[in-house]
Parts: sequence; structure tokens; C-alpha cells
Amino acid sequence: MNGGVVVLASGTGSLFQAILDSEIGPMVCCLVTDVPDCGAVEIARSAGIPVQTVTLTGRLSRDDWNRDLVTAVARWNPALIVSAGFMRILGPLFVDAFPNRIINSHPALLPEFPGAHAVRDALKAGVTRTGCTIHFVDHGVDTGPIIVQESVEIEPHDTEAELHERIKAVERVLLPATIKQLLQSN
Ligand code: GAR
Repeated sequence: MNGGVVVLASGTGSLFQAILDSEIGPMVCCLVTDVPDCGAVEIARSAGIPVQTVTLTGRLSRDDWNRDLVTAVARWNPALIVSAGFMRILGPLFVDAFPNRIINSHPALLPEFPGAHAVRDALKAGVTRTGCTIHFVDHGVDTGPIIVQESVEIEPHDTEAELHERIKAVERVLLPATIKQLLQSN
């Protein structure tokens, strides 16, 4: 590994901001998003980080979108690709283009509660503990090899937003630390 870090994000971008604010912030070479006007894009612009937008419009097949995503990411020759709140499933075309180089932060203790509504699903299931997982991305949905996990207690009257915010507070520390470790070990 000798390139920088490409971050994929679709939302508020608080994990992206935490990466930028960390020791490995200077390694971030590009934000790739599927949502042109999301918070992560604002953060990138303020930080002077290049943004590449690859939207999944009706005219694109999933395969074509994945190909466009490969093109957008490959030009940076990244050492690591970090999915930090990227809310689309990365297809085999994309995953196979960057073997062992894509990681994802997920707001649950995988294999429990994969998918787009992990926090809501944990609350519905009535568990007393959830957390976050950082894992390599494979062809499944949140099924790749787990790198690290940390638990978060669920309080009796937690709303989805309150619980998610406490999980994100953990992710904002764990994700930059994990990126740093992975970059150093390669
Ligand atoms: C994080 O909790 C991340 O784990 C989650 O989106 C949030 C992004 O927060 N990702 C997923 O749920 C992916 N399935 P942010 O927009 O504040 O960085």
C-alpha cells in the first residue's frame, strides 16, 4: 500500500470529519459520494478535499454505476478505501477491483443487525447492548471479515437518534485508529 485514503460517504459526514481531524487526516485524498448535496460534501469543500460524485440515476444500471465508482476511486490509487456512512451496497465489480482495500464502519455488532437500519433493528429486537463494527467489505451485505468491534449499552428510553449518536461517538474514535493501524501494517 502506498497511496492515500479515499472516503465514501452519503450523509452528515461526522465520521468523515473525525477522519479528517485525526492524525491520518492528511492522507485523505478524495471524498466519493452518491449524494451531491450531503453534509460530507460540505465538509470536503471546507477542507479543500476533492469531491467526486457518482449518482445512481435511472439511466444507469447497477453495473454501470459500480464501473463509474471504480473509475472515480481508481484514479487516486488509494491504499485504503473507507466506507464511512456510504448508504449504497458496493457491488462485486467494485469490491473485486480493490481486493483487501475496502473497509466499512457499521453501527451494530455484526453479524447482528446488518443492513441500512442497524440501530432501529437493535432497538426493535430489545437487546441491551449493541455497538459498532469495522470490517473488510466482501460480496455480502456487512458480512466481510471483522477487524474490530466495540459495544455500546442501550439505555431503557433510548430513541434511535440518541443511541445512534452514542454509537457514532465510538466510531469517530475507532475508525481513524483502525485506518492508521491498517496503513502502518502495509
Ligand atoms: C455511521 O453510524 C455509520 O456506521 C453508518 O452511517 C453513519 C454515518 O454517520 N453506516 C451505515 O449504516 C452503513 N450501513 P455520519 O454521516 O454522521 O458520518
